[in-house]
Amino acid sequence: MTDLPSHLSVTADAYDALAVVYADFARDALDPLPLDRAILAAFAELARASAGPVAELGCGPGQTTAHLRDLGLDVFGVDLSPVMIGLARDAYPDLRFEVGSMDALDLADGTLGGILSWYSVIHAPPRDIPPYLAEFRRVLAPGGTLLLAFFESEGGPVAAFDHKVTTAYRWPVDDLAGLAREAGFVEVGRMLREPREDERFRRGHLLMHAG
Ligand SMILES: C[S@@+](CC[C@H](N)C(=O)[O-])C[C@H]1O[C@@H](n2cnc3c(N)ncnc32)[C@H](O)[C@@H]1O
Repeated sequence: MTDLPSHLSVTADAYDALAVVYADFARDALDPLPLDRAILAAFAELARASAGPVAELGCGPGQTTAHLRDLGLDVFGVDLSPVMIGLARDAYPDLRFEVGSMDALDLADGTLGGILSWYSVIHAPPRDIPPYLAEFRRVLAPGGTLLLAFFESEGGPVAAFDHKVTTAYRWPVDDLAGLAREAGFVEVGRMLREPREDERFRRGHLLMHAG
């Protein structure tokens, strides 16, 4: 992709540089996480009920996209990082993966049955979240399903932290839910998961329908 705004170039370059290491770390990441798999299963069940394919936006090396395929979804992946997309295509040749940015999707209005953003809006500066959510709402069919996974701020305000790849943000779940509501989403439910020993922060999940 050409002409990315500078903060997106920083994210794309950082993930390009660490893509192989990240893919090794992420390949089996869901195995010890029953709650994460449970909310992904709930997302898949809701998204299967809508017409249209499902997109994993910010799919990285594609292992979560493949997990959704295994749950019966017609799914494809989009990511900023060309190296990540190359790894995803090599690992899962039966699936479609495209380089792109989730704030400017090459998709017609109302065409998706579901969107998964699994830790992919975490690097967006707070001012960029409303336009991201507006783009998600634009491409989802009415009633389509959105699942956001993110780092939760545990009582504090939205705050930047030193994520291993590049700066990321922790969010109060109510703040993110409020922005999603303003963008036209209706909350179905939310899930918080406490960090494991090898994790730093509580995890937040918001499951929503396009209103
Ligand atoms: C923490 S990784 C998560 C990857 C994957 N969802 C997973 O489950 O492992 C964040 C990913 O989001 C991608 N990303 C960040 N901003 C993006 C944007 N604006 N558009 C598309 N992808 C983006 C990054 O390139 C990176 O691959």
